[in-house]
Amino acid sequence: MRSNYCGELNESFVDQEVELCGWVHRRRDHGGVIFLDVRDREGIAQVVYDPDIEDSFATAESVRNEFVIKVTGIVRLRPEGTVNNDMPTGKIEVLGKKLEVLNAANTPPIQLDEHTEVGEDIRLHYRYIDLRRPEMAERLRFRSKVTNTVRNFLDNHGFLDIETPLLTKATPEGARDYLVPSRTHPNRFFALPQSPQLFKQILMAAGMDRYYQIAKCFRDEDLRADRQPEFTQIDVETSFMDEDKIMAVMEQLIREVFMTHLDVDLGEFPRMAHAEAMNRYGSDKPDLRIDLELVDIADLMKSVDFKVFSGPANDPASRVVALRVPQGASISRKVIDAYTKFVGIYGAKGLAWVKVNDISAGLEGLQSPILKFMPEDVVTTLMKTLGAETGDIIFFGADKAKVVNEAIGALRIKVAEDLGQVREGWAPLWVVDFPMFETASDGSLTSLHHPFTAPSCDSKQLAADPQAALSRAYDMVLNGTELGGGSIRINKPEMQRSVFEVLGIGEEEAAEKFGFLLEALSYGCPPHGGIAFGLDRLIMLMTGASSIRDVIAFPKTQSAACPLTDAPGAVSAKQLRELNIRLREQPKAEEAQAAVGTEEAS
Ligand code: AMO
Ligand code: AMP
Repeated sequence: MRSNYCGELNESFVDQEVELCGWVHRRRDHGGVIFLDVRDREGIAQVVYDPDIEDSFATAESVRNEFVIKVTGIVRLRPEGTVNNDMPTGKIEVLGKKLEVLNAANTPPIQLDEHTEVGEDIRLHYRYIDLRRPEMAERLRFRSKVTNTVRNFLDNHGFLDIETPLLTKATPEGARDYLVPSRTHPNRFFALPQSPQLFKQILMAAGMDRYYQIAKCFRDEDLRADRQPEFTQIDVETSFMDEDKIMAVMEQLIREVFMTHLDVDLGEFPRMAHAEAMNRYGSDKPDLRIDLELVDIADLMKSVDFKVFSGPANDPASRVVALRVPQGASISRKVIDAYTKFVGIYGAKGLAWVKVNDISAGLEGLQSPILKFMPEDVVTTLMKTLGAETGDIIFFGADKAKVVNEAIGALRIKVAEDLGQVREGWAPLWVVDFPMFETASDGSLTSLHHPFTAPSCDSKQLAADPQAALSRAYDMVLNGTELGGGSIRINKPEMQRSVFEVLGIGEEEAAEKFGFLLEALSYGCPPHGGIAFGLDRLIMLMTGASSIRDVIAFPKTQSAACPLTDAPGAVSAKQLRELNIRLREQPKAEEAQAAVGTEEAS
């Protein structure tokens, strides 16, 4: 049907006849001549219809935005003064000879020819129109190319692409499961995988040595800009490689992706221990494009007359930190109040601050609601410790360590963004030496990664002091986003049992949930480890999109629904009966009606 894509036309096609198929992006009637901007996946070309070709001219007059058309015409240079340098095809146009309407279109609910703000629900309901927008199409094309590079790289490094089941048993990655009832096994449910974790480990037990999969994962969790209930991982597992080797190969993969598609050399990734990341940035995924750092000042605050600080300063589970922000003294009270509210989201009870108006003037040069509570020598030492300079503002956080880390860690990013203190470019990082466990509010321990992550100590040490145990896990962080995470796994059943024990998973529960894994570990399972990258996040970062929804063809909304298909939907009484399921609440009238309709149809 077509000889060329619209977007590929340029001066080298001048005088050639071309056939283009695409959508009417815009139609302009210039008194006597009609211009059609014709759009396809690869771009836009301008087609001109003169009245002397009567048939085609009449058709051109009749077409509307988003009609699907076929154009036959001759490429020519645009007349002088009408060249559009902002458009890849802006030097040429097509003089239309024939015009065929392949399909008409209703007036689109989304304007594609200009930048209009459209609500997300409308965009997702009419996703096929939304995806016609060149920047959306470009992101999907980019994604496809990156996936191709990833596949080639892994193929070339001896990794086998192996599929793992979607109908399976729960794999704990910290979220709720999506469950699928079984018809053939009444009262039993499959879980959709939160990741292929256990299958990829079993593939190592099976001797596959190097595995990868571009894998769909399902997690029923609170959604954010970088989280979807259904997302894609670049999932990798290897045998007989230690963490240094795995990190080296995976770093090479990400470097190659950036070099190939953005012409960016990420260089060698630095490594940072988890404890250091938390201390300096309050985060396990620090954005190193921002220089601001949290500085512990508990020692200085132990005996001051300000309970808000001295209390946490004397509590080992708490932190007192200062965040010095150069050029921050000009921040207004109104903005400080907004920041105080902002840290409140993370549970901070306030946000103390000091403005350094003139460091050479001693106490006189400082402005703050809290300094009156502190002896002069403490203030002097504080300023010295922080390296305070005229023009700074210093913020303080004092609370349980978790609250301080989250609140001041988030404030660090917010203030840097507001003041334009985020460096351009890319800041990759490996975070290593994670603790094995974190303590939940009820005092129980949960895995920081997943329960199959190997500790860096032996099982005796692990049992003696699980809270002190570090794991052999590593996370790849890019510009403050966790791009991927992995670890060396436990490959011996005894160690796996020890970890289950620390987690309060008894023999019986372990056998019921993970018996197949324990069995696999006992039939000659090699030392192994791996990683999984969030493909959606990678593409979001690389394309500069603000949400992973913009790099997924058919994403779900914030409430995990699909406005295009209206999923999740009601099901018929017959289907439920077959599945041995009875609803606790009867569906509302119209849903019941729809369900009856389906029943009758089936
Ligand atoms: P983890 O749970 O850290 O590890 O996931 C790996 C990566 O997947 C991405 N990711 C998500 N992306 C979009 N939406 C989500 N809801 C979402 N959740 C996670 C992140 C994350 O870094 N089996 C282990 C990996 C391993 O140990 O090999 C796992 O799934 O980018
Ligand atoms: P208050 O004594 O509650 O009036 O607080 C004095 C100053 O300390 C105010 O600027 C508060 O915002 C701040 N503040 C209160 N609680 C905290 C806290 N936990 N961490 C940091 N600053 C706080």
